[in-house]
Amino acid sequence: MSNEGVDGGRRRFLTAATSVVGAAGTVAVIWPFLKSLKPSAKAQALGAPVNADIAKIEEGQQVTFIWRGSSVWVLRRSKEMVENLTKGDAQLADPASKSSNQPDYCANPHRSIKPEYLVMAGKCTHLGCAPKLRPEHPAPEIDPNWLGGYFCPCHGSKYDLAGRVFKSQPAPLNMPVPPHRYASDTLVVIGEDPEKKA
Ligand code: FES
Repeated sequence: MSNEGVDGGRRRFLTAATSVVGAAGTVAVIWPFLKSLKPSAKAQALGAPVNADIAKIEEGQQVTFIWRGSSVWVLRRSKEMVENLTKGDAQLADPASKSSNQPDYCANPHRSIKPEYLVMAGKCTHLGCAPKLRPEHPAPEIDPNWLGGYFCPCHGSKYDLAGRVFKSQPAPLNMPVPPHRYASDTLVVIGEDPEKKA
């Protein structure tokens, strides 16, 4: 056998062996990559719905719940607060929330399933500060026509008690309303739509 024949056979063997190792290496690299695409238990928990017990929230009181790592407020509004929501449309940028983020079942002046309870992401739509609940009225230091609402301390954006932003504010939109449903009269599931009953 010539040297050329030996070298040719060895070359073919090395080529085949390299291909097998290469394929195994590819599998070894892809598997952890695919594993990394699967959401971790922590990530899944962060996106999971949150049960909000609203039984003890008093009229005029607001309680914070954490959903997806951010604050969601539940405000229990009085009858007067709900009535006042129909009186300030002229000063609102988007009174019907046409440009704002909310589920269809909250497309009403009170932006909620039940007029009494507002469930809303507690974040200013300008740069994300947490507006302060200012339910009292009048409050001329905030606005001459103040009927109660939220005031952002960062750059002064004003919202009503449904989270609807006033005209000509740094904040461009109403505060978002997350998906939510009532599991009972006193239990709200934040992060689930009413259709998706457990
Ligand atoms: S972050 Fe609220 S007005 Fe700027």
